[in-house]
Amino acid sequence: IDTVVFENSFTASKAVAKEIADLIRKKQTQEQPCILGLATGSSPKGLYAELVRMHKEDGLSFKNVITFNLDEYYPMQPDSVNSYVRFMKELLLDQVDILSGNYHIPDGTLSKEAIADYCRDYEAKIEALGGLDLQVLGIGGNGHIGFNESGSLQNSKTRLVALDHITRVAASGDFSGLINTPRTAITLGVKKIMEAKRVILMAWGEGKSSIIKASTEGPVTNQVPASFLQEHNNVVFVIDKAAASKLT
Ligand code: F6R
Repeated sequence: IDTVVFENSFTASKAVAKEIADLIRKKQTQEQPCILGLATGSSPKGLYAELVRMHKEDGLSFKNVITFNLDEYYPMQPDSVNSYVRFMKELLLDQVDILSGNYHIPDGTLSKEAIADYCRDYEAKIEALGGLDLQVLGIGGNGHIGFNESGSLQNSKTRLVALDHITRVAASGDFSGLINTPRTAITLGVKKIMEAKRVILMAWGEGKSSIIKASTEGPVTNQVPASFLQEHNNVVFVIDKAAASKLT
Protein backbone atom coordinates (compact mmCIF):
# COMPACT_ATOMS: atom_id res chain seq x y z
CA ILE A 1 0.00 0.00 0.00
CA ASP A 2 1.21 3.44 -0.96
CA THR A 3 1.61 5.31 2.35
CA VAL A 4 2.24 9.05 2.54
CA VAL A 5 3.28 10.46 5.90
CA PHE A 6 2.68 14.11 6.79
CA GLU A 7 3.95 16.14 9.72
CA ASN A 8 0.38 16.62 10.97
CA SER A 9 -3.25 16.08 10.03
CA PHE A 10 -3.65 19.70 8.97
CA THR A 11 -1.13 19.58 6.12
CA ALA A 12 -2.27 16.06 5.23
CA SER A 13 -5.93 17.10 4.98
CA LYS A 14 -4.98 20.00 2.71
CA ALA A 15 -3.15 17.62 0.38
CA VAL A 16 -6.17 15.29 0.20
CA ALA A 17 -8.48 18.26 -0.44
CA LYS A 18 -6.19 19.36 -3.28
CA GLU A 19 -6.41 15.94 -4.93
CA ILE A 20 -10.20 15.91 -4.65
CA ALA A 21 -10.53 19.49 -5.94
CA ASP A 22 -8.31 18.63 -8.90
CA LEU A 23 -10.53 15.63 -9.69
CA ILE A 24 -13.72 17.72 -9.43
CA ARG A 25 -12.25 20.34 -11.78
CA LYS A 26 -10.98 17.73 -14.24
CA LYS A 27 -14.47 16.20 -14.39
CA GLN A 28 -15.92 19.70 -14.91
CA THR A 29 -13.75 20.30 -17.96
CA GLN A 30 -14.87 16.89 -19.27
CA GLU A 31 -18.49 17.86 -18.49
CA GLN A 32 -18.84 14.76 -16.36
CA PRO A 33 -20.15 14.22 -12.85
CA CYS A 34 -17.62 13.48 -10.11
CA ILE A 35 -18.80 10.58 -7.96
CA LEU A 36 -17.38 10.71 -4.45
CA GLY A 37 -17.69 8.20 -1.62
CA LEU A 38 -17.51 10.03 1.72
CA ALA A 39 -16.84 9.13 5.34
CA THR A 40 -17.79 10.74 8.64
CA GLY A 41 -16.01 10.64 12.01
CA SER A 42 -13.13 12.81 13.18
CA SER A 43 -10.60 11.87 10.48
CA PRO A 44 -12.14 13.74 7.48
CA LYS A 45 -13.10 16.90 9.39
CA GLY A 46 -10.00 18.82 8.25
CA LEU A 47 -10.59 17.66 4.67
CA TYR A 48 -14.17 18.96 4.67
CA ALA A 49 -13.09 22.26 6.25
CA GLU A 50 -10.52 22.73 3.48
CA LEU A 51 -13.01 21.84 0.73
CA VAL A 52 -15.45 24.40 2.17
CA ARG A 53 -12.67 26.98 2.25
CA MET A 54 -11.82 26.19 -1.39
CA HIS A 55 -15.48 26.66 -2.31
CA LYS A 56 -15.76 29.99 -0.49
CA GLU A 57 -12.37 31.46 -1.34
CA ASP A 58 -11.18 29.76 -4.51
CA GLY A 59 -14.47 29.30 -6.34
CA LEU A 60 -14.43 25.49 -6.27
CA SER A 61 -17.91 24.43 -7.40
CA PHE A 62 -19.65 21.20 -6.39
CA LYS A 63 -22.37 21.44 -9.03
CA ASN A 64 -21.04 18.36 -10.84
CA VAL A 65 -20.44 16.42 -7.61
CA ILE A 66 -22.55 13.45 -6.54
CA THR A 67 -21.78 11.92 -3.15
CA PHE A 68 -22.53 8.64 -1.40
CA ASN A 69 -21.76 8.34 2.28
CA LEU A 70 -20.44 5.09 3.64
CA ASP A 71 -22.74 4.60 6.54
CA GLU A 72 -25.37 5.72 9.02
CA TYR A 73 -26.38 4.42 12.41
CA TYR A 74 -29.60 2.43 12.53
CA PRO A 75 -32.02 3.42 13.78
CA MET A 76 -31.27 7.12 13.42
CA GLN A 77 -33.38 10.19 12.73
CA PRO A 78 -31.71 12.57 10.24
CA ASP A 79 -32.22 15.60 12.50
CA SER A 80 -30.68 13.91 15.56
CA VAL A 81 -27.42 15.50 16.81
CA ASN A 82 -25.57 12.24 16.19
CA SER A 83 -26.84 11.47 12.70
CA TYR A 84 -24.35 11.34 9.88
CA VAL A 85 -26.86 13.34 7.82
CA ARG A 86 -26.48 16.18 10.27
CA PHE A 87 -22.68 15.75 10.35
CA MET A 88 -22.37 15.91 6.57
CA LYS A 89 -24.77 18.87 6.21
CA GLU A 90 -23.01 20.93 8.85
CA LEU A 91 -19.44 20.19 7.82
CA LEU A 92 -19.79 20.09 4.04
CA LEU A 93 -23.08 19.76 2.18
CA ASP A 94 -24.86 22.89 3.46
CA GLN A 95 -21.70 24.95 2.99
CA VAL A 96 -21.06 24.27 -0.70
CA ASP A 97 -23.14 24.48 -3.88
CA ILE A 98 -23.85 20.74 -4.25
CA LEU A 99 -27.30 20.25 -5.77
CA SER A 100 -29.95 18.88 -3.42
CA GLY A 101 -30.62 15.36 -4.60
CA ASN A 102 -26.97 14.85 -5.48
CA TYR A 103 -25.96 13.57 -2.06
CA HIS A 104 -26.86 10.22 -0.58
CA ILE A 105 -26.56 9.05 3.01
CA PRO A 106 -27.95 5.69 4.13
CA ASP A 107 -31.42 6.15 5.64
CA GLY A 108 -31.57 5.36 9.34
CA THR A 109 -35.38 5.66 9.47
CA LEU A 110 -36.34 2.66 7.34
CA SER A 111 -38.42 -0.22 8.62
CA LYS A 112 -36.36 -3.38 9.08
CA GLU A 113 -38.24 -5.01 6.19
CA ALA A 114 -37.30 -2.18 3.81
CA ILE A 115 -33.54 -2.26 4.43
CA ALA A 116 -32.51 -5.01 2.01
CA ASP A 117 -34.24 -3.38 -0.99
CA TYR A 118 -32.91 0.02 0.04
CA CYS A 119 -29.33 -1.29 0.17
CA ARG A 120 -29.64 -2.93 -3.24
CA ASP A 121 -30.94 0.34 -4.65
CA TYR A 122 -28.09 2.33 -3.02
CA GLU A 123 -25.57 0.14 -4.84
CA ALA A 124 -27.56 0.28 -8.09
CA LYS A 125 -27.44 4.08 -8.01
CA ILE A 126 -23.64 3.99 -7.68
CA GLU A 127 -23.38 1.44 -10.50
CA ALA A 128 -25.65 3.47 -12.79
CA LEU A 129 -23.24 6.40 -12.42
CA GLY A 130 -20.29 4.21 -13.39
CA GLY A 131 -19.01 3.57 -9.86
CA LEU A 132 -17.21 5.74 -7.33
CA ASP A 133 -14.45 7.87 -8.79
CA LEU A 134 -12.89 8.31 -5.36
CA GLN A 135 -13.65 6.86 -1.94
CA VAL A 136 -12.59 8.68 1.24
CA LEU A 137 -12.07 6.39 4.24
CA GLY A 138 -11.20 6.57 7.90
CA ILE A 139 -10.24 3.45 9.82
CA GLY A 140 -11.55 2.07 13.10
CA GLY A 141 -9.16 0.95 15.82
CA ASN A 142 -10.23 -2.60 14.94
CA GLY A 143 -9.55 -2.11 11.22
CA HIS A 144 -13.12 -1.46 10.13
CA ILE A 145 -13.76 0.56 6.97
CA GLY A 146 -17.21 2.05 6.74
CA PHE A 147 -18.91 -0.09 9.36
CA ASN A 148 -17.52 -3.27 7.88
CA GLU A 149 -16.35 -4.75 11.16
CA SER A 150 -13.94 -7.64 11.70
CA GLY A 151 -15.30 -10.71 9.94
CA SER A 152 -16.75 -8.77 6.99
CA LEU A 153 -16.14 -10.48 3.69
CA GLN A 154 -14.24 -8.92 0.81
CA ASN A 155 -17.30 -9.30 -1.43
CA SER A 156 -19.77 -8.06 1.21
CA LYS A 157 -22.65 -5.91 0.02
CA THR A 158 -24.33 -2.87 1.45
CA ARG A 159 -26.27 -4.10 4.47
CA LEU A 160 -27.39 -3.76 8.05
CA VAL A 161 -24.56 -4.71 10.41
CA ALA A 162 -24.08 -5.18 14.15
CA LEU A 163 -21.49 -2.76 15.53
CA ASP A 164 -18.55 -4.21 17.44
CA HIS A 165 -18.36 -3.47 21.14
CA ILE A 166 -15.12 -1.50 20.58
CA THR A 167 -16.84 0.63 17.90
CA ARG A 168 -19.75 1.35 20.24
CA VAL A 169 -17.37 2.27 23.05
CA ALA A 170 -15.56 4.68 20.68
CA ALA A 171 -18.92 6.29 19.80
CA SER A 172 -20.39 6.22 23.30
CA GLY A 173 -19.05 9.68 24.21
CA ASP A 174 -21.22 11.21 21.50
CA PHE A 175 -24.27 9.33 22.70
CA SER A 176 -23.72 10.08 26.40
CA GLY A 177 -23.10 6.48 27.33
CA LEU A 178 -22.92 3.00 25.88
CA ILE A 179 -26.53 2.29 26.75
CA ASN A 180 -27.71 5.00 24.32
CA THR A 181 -25.27 4.03 21.56
CA PRO A 182 -26.82 2.30 18.53
CA ARG A 183 -26.11 -1.41 18.16
CA THR A 184 -26.51 -1.49 14.39
CA ALA A 185 -25.76 0.56 11.29
CA ILE A 186 -26.21 0.48 7.54
CA THR A 187 -22.88 0.36 5.72
CA LEU A 188 -21.66 0.27 2.17
CA GLY A 189 -20.15 -3.19 1.67
CA VAL A 190 -16.47 -3.91 1.15
CA LYS A 191 -17.10 -4.80 -2.50
CA LYS A 192 -18.25 -1.32 -3.53
CA ILE A 193 -15.34 0.24 -1.62
CA MET A 194 -12.91 -2.07 -3.46
CA GLU A 195 -14.53 -1.14 -6.79
CA ALA A 196 -13.85 2.58 -6.29
CA LYS A 197 -11.36 3.82 -8.89
CA ARG A 198 -9.28 5.55 -6.20
CA VAL A 199 -9.25 5.11 -2.42
CA ILE A 200 -7.78 7.56 0.10
CA LEU A 201 -7.69 6.36 3.72
CA MET A 202 -6.83 8.93 6.37
CA ALA A 203 -5.65 8.23 9.91
CA TRP A 204 -4.24 10.50 12.59
CA GLY A 205 -2.61 9.95 15.93
CA GLU A 206 -0.75 7.34 17.94
CA GLY A 207 -4.01 5.51 18.68
CA LYS A 208 -4.22 4.43 15.02
CA SER A 209 -0.56 3.33 14.69
CA SER A 210 -1.08 -0.37 15.50
CA ILE A 211 -4.00 -0.81 13.11
CA ILE A 212 -2.17 1.11 10.35
CA LYS A 213 0.72 -1.32 10.74
CA ALA A 214 -1.58 -4.35 10.74
CA SER A 215 -3.53 -3.11 7.69
CA THR A 216 -0.51 -2.29 5.56
CA GLU A 217 2.15 -4.77 6.71
CA GLY A 218 0.08 -7.62 8.11
CA PRO A 219 -1.72 -10.41 6.27
CA VAL A 220 -4.83 -9.75 4.19
CA THR A 221 -7.53 -11.02 6.50
CA ASN A 222 -11.19 -10.41 7.16
CA GLN A 223 -10.23 -9.90 10.81
CA VAL A 224 -8.82 -6.54 9.62
CA PRO A 225 -11.10 -5.35 6.79
CA ALA A 226 -8.75 -2.45 5.91
CA SER A 227 -6.14 -5.07 4.96
CA PHE A 228 -8.31 -5.89 1.91
CA LEU A 229 -7.07 -2.59 0.51
CA GLN A 230 -3.68 -4.24 -0.08
CA GLU A 231 -5.44 -5.80 -3.07
CA HIS A 232 -6.68 -2.46 -4.45
CA ASN A 233 -4.57 -1.12 -7.31
CA ASN A 234 -5.02 2.60 -6.62
CA VAL A 235 -5.07 3.25 -2.89
CA VAL A 236 -3.13 5.62 -0.67
CA PHE A 237 -2.99 5.81 3.13
CA VAL A 238 -2.51 9.46 4.07
CA ILE A 239 -1.37 9.48 7.69
CA ASP A 240 0.42 11.68 10.18
CA LYS A 241 3.75 10.91 11.87
CA ALA A 242 2.08 9.53 14.98
CA ALA A 243 -0.08 7.08 13.01
CA ALA A 244 3.04 6.04 11.06
CA SER A 245 5.15 5.51 14.18
CA LYS A 246 4.91 1.70 14.22
CA LEU A 247 5.62 1.14 10.51
CA THR A 248 8.85 -0.64 9.69
C1 F6R B 1 -17.42 6.75 9.29
C2 F6R B 1 -16.80 5.45 9.07
C3 F6R B 1 -15.86 4.85 10.07
C4 F6R B 1 -14.79 5.83 10.57
C5 F6R B 1 -13.87 5.15 11.58
C6 F6R B 1 -12.83 6.10 12.12
O1 F6R B 1 -18.25 7.10 8.21
O2 F6R B 1 -17.06 4.87 8.07
O3 F6R B 1 -15.23 3.73 9.48
O4 F6R B 1 -14.06 6.28 9.47
O5 F6R B 1 -14.63 4.65 12.64
O6 F6R B 1 -13.45 7.10 12.86
P1 F6R B 1 -12.63 8.38 13.32
O7 F6R B 1 -12.26 9.13 12.10
O8 F6R B 1 -13.62 9.17 14.16
O9 F6R B 1 -11.45 7.90 14.09
